Amino acid sequence: MNYVVVYYSMDGHTKGVATKVAKKLSAKLVRLECNPPYPKTGAAKFLKGGSDALFDRQAKLAPYEFDERDFDVVILASPMWAGKASPAMNRFLHEHVLTHKKIGLISLSKSGRDGCLVDMRRKLYERGTLPTADAPLESLNLTEEESGNEAEVAGRIDNFCDRLGKLL
Ligand SMILES: Cc1cc2nc3c(=O)[nH]c(=O)nc-3n(C[C@H](O)[C@H](O)[C@H](O)COP(=O)(O)O)c2cc1C
Repeated sequence: MNYVVVYYSMDGHTKGVATKVAKKLSAKLVRLECNPPYPKTGAAKFLKGGSDALFDRQAKLAPYEFDERDFDVVILASPMWAGKASPAMNRFLHEHVLTHKKIGLISLSKSGRDGCLVDMRRKLYERGTLPTADAPLESLNLTEEESGNEAEVAGRIDNFCDRLGKLL
């Protein structure tokens, strides 16, 4: 099985988890970077990023290397913004139709709510990657706090990778 982990991360939490998952699965790691970048401080951080996510806008991305033909399993990792996927992930989901792949989803958030996972699943379905709205995939939902607990995150990642391996 060839694995790839594609992630966007503004403050490093998603990056940390994506990197650990990629290491465990010997996966290629692809980082999505917004160009221009989103504001990282002040009110603009939440106003610009939050409103773009809320309205399903797609960020402009710096060039990245990804050819879906190279992989059997695609893992997508995004922070939750305004209860949804990040605009960077929106762009990736729009640019690629990942048919006949096993899909894993990872979300990082402050609250641990599953809005980003639900949103990524919906967009995968609408774009044609998932054949049905409830097609099987595996997901990992972590809070920032959990991601900082080494033992907790290692156990959750092990469990996620095991479930992904068993996905039909
Ligand atoms: C623009 C913006 C909107 C956010 N919206 C939410 C939200 O709706 N719910 C939540 O629990 N966390 C929200 N967060 C917090 C991030 O999901 C959380 O800090 C996450 O760990 C960030 O991941 P990162 O460090 O990889 O960027 C938001 C953060 C930003 C920057």
